[in-house]
Amino acid sequence: MADGSQFAFTPAVEAATLPLWEKVKRHVTPMEWRLQAPLIAEINRLKREKNAVILAHNYMTPEIFHGVGDYVGDSLGLAKEAAKSEAKIIVQAGVHFMAETSKILSPDKTVLIPDLRAGCSLASSITGADVRLIKQRYPGLPVVTYVNTTADVKAETDVCCTSANAVQVVEHVAREWGVDRVILIPDEFLARNVARQTTVGIIAWKGRCEVHERFNAADILELKEAYPDAQILAHPECPPEVLEVADFAGSTAAMTNYVMTKKPKQVVLITECSMADNVAIDAIETEFVRPCNLCPHMKRISLENIYEALVKNQYEVLVDPAIAERARLSVQRMIDLPPPLVPARYDLIKARHHVDVELI
Ligand code: 13P
Ligand code: SF4
Repeated sequence: MADGSQFAFTPAVEAATLPLWEKVKRHVTPMEWRLQAPLIAEINRLKREKNAVILAHNYMTPEIFHGVGDYVGDSLGLAKEAAKSEAKIIVQAGVHFMAETSKILSPDKTVLIPDLRAGCSLASSITGADVRLIKQRYPGLPVVTYVNTTADVKAETDVCCTSANAVQVVEHVAREWGVDRVILIPDEFLARNVARQTTVGIIAWKGRCEVHERFNAADILELKEAYPDAQILAHPECPPEVLEVADFAGSTAAMTNYVMTKKPKQVVLITECSMADNVAIDAIETEFVRPCNLCPHMKRISLENIYEALVKNQYEVLVDPAIAERARLSVQRMIDLPPPLVPARYDLIKARHHVDVELI
């Protein structure tokens, strides 16, 4: 069997995974651990043998995030790690556009995704042909594209952004091009949230994250009433009405950073479910209230298929070299931007009144 079920919880496995068990034991039952630990030990052995690294997004389940992830973080952090990595093989524990970004930045490495069906509703909302039409409609305006897109969309893009730096990228590009409007695609809600932080006009696309679009202001107000002392942190892919009633908004890494540095007594993370599970393991002083939505794409990745990916070198993610070359420019321009003074400014949202978003 190549799914790892042949590995037993031996004394050697128990000893090798003991430090990890000490870390996760408040959140994982001994029964679960007996199933997970042998695979974690085997995956970590295979990584050394094959000179592979695992880049794990914050939405991976804890046994992946804490057990086998070499680099963990948000889309921006993982893209930067992919660019720096010395390993021969990158296993992307995340979704397909993230694996494509890794391949674009590391064309000589083998990039594997454990399940090819791990897509993204934002990435599938727009094509390279759509972006070409948008450019025809708005000649002379720069195109800023969220990294949650396919390589052919990135190839049509001037500069990429993530939720961690979108405001900064929009303002930088507007300054550099000497324009007062920027095309920011494909996430309508990210675009609307950015528009509230800047005087730059935004032209947006109607893409949505199927996980974050389901949150609404009424749910958050209900939570506030039930947990008056809890800090509410929301992802900028949520509708603006959600950010308006949240205490803070930022990328998944910005949310982690908020919890780890401010150490709130009680917190609610308005985002994908695994996020709170992962942060709770490290943030021992904080209590987590857990309303959340699952991302079905992220949840396609498991310890079993990561193991299979390493054993069988599957599934290799390839990008047409001509497209990759153009896409690399837009991702690299983002990576080369200086870090923002304030990483996420969505928390200033209440200060703005005028929002100028033109939907395509
Ligand atoms: P970040 O991790 O960049 O905040 O993005 C969240 C997301 O939805 C990735 O799919
Ligand atoms: Fe895409 Fe939303 Fe899932 Fe992230 S959480 S991968 S944006 S569908």
